[in-house]
Amino acid sequence: MQSGPVKLNFEKIIGVEPGAELVPFYHFKILTNEGNIVGHINFKVGDTNHIRQCVGHIGYKIFPEYRGNSYSYFACDAIRPFLRTFYKKVILTSDPDNVPSIKIIKKLNAKFLNEITVPVQDPSYKDGARRKKRYEWEP
Ligand SMILES: CC(C)(COP(=O)(O)OP(=O)(O)OC[C@H]1O[C@@H](n2cnc3c(N)ncnc32)[C@H](O)[C@@H]1OP(=O)(O)O)[C@@H](O)C(=O)NCCC(=O)NCCS
Repeated sequence: MQSGPVKLNFEKIIGVEPGAELVPFYHFKILTNEGNIVGHINFKVGDTNHIRQCVGHIGYKIFPEYRGNSYSYFACDAIRPFLRTFYKKVILTSDPDNVPSIKIIKKLNAKFLNEITVPVQDPSYKDGARRKKRYEWEP
């Protein structure tokens, strides 16, 4: 899978114990066309409250030294065809103060849904998450 300056290499599926709020996810490395590993993108498959309300179906990270090139935007673009084999629409979320992530989500033309308070019982709460902006994206 490829888009603009990046390609995705499938690494592994991370499994979880069934029955909880966490769901399994596909883990891809993000590489430049020159072969530098610049970050990763995860696609979480499931529709628990934790996914739909708090963390969304997609997570991405670009290593600090490679930021500033919108590589996460291209990674999301590259993963679209794979997402479409699972979902017509996915949820993307961001901390309200994560300006670069919100810019990437807007660039993807995702539709803003709402901003929620993270419930105390959500697994992200203990990691410090308190508020999330939620978006719906048609990949
Ligand atoms: C979010 C993240 C993946 C974006 O990395 P990236 O793809 O390299 O994105 P960029 O650094 O190119 O930034 C995207 C946009 O935000 C802008 N931006 C970046 N930092 C900014 C800041 N502090 N204030 C305002 N705008 C900022 C960039 O100028 C760019 O804008 P443009 O599209 O108008 O040019 C990266 O910051 C990261 O890995 N963060 C930690 C993990 C994370 O937060 N993941 C997202 C939640 S899953």
